[in-house]
Amino acid sequence: MPGRLAGKVAIVTGGGSRGPGLGNGKATSILFAREGARVLCVDSAVERAEETVKEIATEGGEASAFAAEVTRAADCRAMVATAVERYGGLDVLHNNVGIESRAGILEVTEDEWDRVMAVDLKSMMLAAQAAVPRMHGRGGAITCVSSIAALRGHQRTAYAAAKAGVIGLVITLAEQLGPRGIRVNAIAPGQVWTPMVAYQGAEGREARRRRTPLGTEGTAWDVAWAAVYLASDEARWVTGQTIVVDGGLTLTTR
Ligand SMILES: NC(=O)c1ccc[n+]([C@@H]2O[C@H](COP(=O)([O-])OP(=O)(O)OC[C@H]3O[C@@H](n4cnc5c(N)ncnc54)[C@H](O)[C@@H]3O)[C@@H](O)[C@H]2O)c1
Repeated sequence: MPGRLAGKVAIVTGGGSRGPGLGNGKATSILFAREGARVLCVDSAVERAEETVKEIATEGGEASAFAAEVTRAADCRAMVATAVERYGGLDVLHNNVGIESRAGILEVTEDEWDRVMAVDLKSMMLAAQAAVPRMHGRGGAITCVSSIAALRGHQRTAYAAAKAGVIGLVITLAEQLGPRGIRVNAIAPGQVWTPMVAYQGAEGREARRRRTPLGTEGTAWDVAWAAVYLASDEARWVTGQTIVVDGGLTLTTR
């Protein structure tokens, strides 16, 4: 049933995909548009966002691209101002941007730690700080993409810590912004197959699939459907929550 986001204006950060195939931000932008939202696809590599916009236009949806480095407050403010200018307001901020870091505690450098914290955590705070004043009076939904790396033992020191920080940020923002009618939630994807993890190859892909109790492969569409729900009025009484989309992996000891 299309139209669940009809009339809404949405920003998706990291709305492009880093490689061939479908990333979480790209799939979310496409589903948002299919559900009737007008979408500002934001990416530091703007040609990636333009790819997404092209696909949305082919389907008859409404979207446009914007170049921003979301670790910078000024870029976040410009991104929000552009959404308001192009579409007349802002209802949904989908904080999808994230980079990986695989270094363990003895290998992670200070520079890597700082960069991951800036991209995966600080950017979400800066984007929310810019968006909230423009949402006031319209309600609104902010969704931040975390990871199951935040919820279980993990080798990826900076990534796990940043993604756990995202969940903490969501809880405090939900408390602070509830009185303004703004809902704030997180999605914790499991091992979905996206260009971000393509380096793992066919063997890694098969291992990821087999690890889940469901035994099926998760894709960016699975993450995007959770994003549609959280952005929609169907989630009007849901805030401060983390929806885990992982085929059941976190239930296991695998
Ligand atoms: N694939 C998985 O298995 C998995 C699992 C858990 C969580 N996630 C999370 O999903 C999100 C990634 O989703 P994706 O599939 O869209 O990734 P992606 O890398 O394909 O796309 C993200 C886009 O963000 C852009 N970007 C990166 N840093 C930026 C910055 N500082 N400012 C502006 N744009 C920037 C990139 O250019 C890229 O086009 C991340 O938050 C990631 O941690 C993925």
